[in-house]
Amino acid sequence: MLNRALRKVPTWVVYIAGALPVAWMTYQTLNGTIGIDPVRAIEWGLGLWALRLLIATLCVTPLRWVGLNLMRFRRQLGLVAFAYVCLHLLAWVTIDMGLRWGQILPDLVKRWYIVVGMSALVLLVPLAVTSNTASIRRMGAKGWNRLHQLAYPATILATVHFLMVGKVYTAEVLTYAGILFALLAARAARFVLKRRVSA
Ligand code: HEM
Repeated sequence: MLNRALRKVPTWVVYIAGALPVAWMTYQTLNGTIGIDPVRAIEWGLGLWALRLLIATLCVTPLRWVGLNLMRFRRQLGLVAFAYVCLHLLAWVTIDMGLRWGQILPDLVKRWYIVVGMSALVLLVPLAVTSNTASIRRMGAKGWNRLHQLAYPATILATVHFLMVGKVYTAEVLTYAGILFALLAARAARFVLKRRVSA
């Protein structure tokens, strides 16, 4: 029933919905209501949405196992997540570091949480580049699926980055880490079951 209704929803809706947080942050910035430290608030807001959307993208496949089919929206979700990661990086380079490359470049290798965040971003680049039907055809479904397993290490690194920057482990931090752990456990359990069945 729900799946049938979802089939009628156009996929571009994900882009519109995905643009809402950044639109809200822009409105709050222009309005002067984003907080006492706008730079930090923008940087954190973009990073948080990047992480939430990465985790949401990883939830799509396990949700199908339990009957909710959101597969049509997975590509758009992943691309919106990647856009937030890029905006988060852009915010750091511009409004936080003020394009001071003499400081930015050493930070990319010196500060561990930056190295970890950057590694997550680098892993996401091939996924974003190949998230189109032509790439699936060229690489074959098997090769494409294998490459897109990189979403797991990328999200693990992103979560570690989040754990590293968060000075205190709030309920939010622990929730994301918990969801990610549950996703990995579900994947591992399914892998083991599949092997047992085919053995
Ligand atoms: C998949 C990639 C990434 C995700 C999901 C992500 C996520 C986050 C999140 C959620 C926060 C806020 C933490 C909090 O609320 O306490 C944060 C903070 C931050 N991130 Fe990222 N990040 C990523 C990549 C990067 C990259 C590539 C850079 C820079 C090269 C970066 C630089 C920072 C900085 C400077 C902060 C603020 C640290 C502070 O408060 O002093 N992140 N990130």
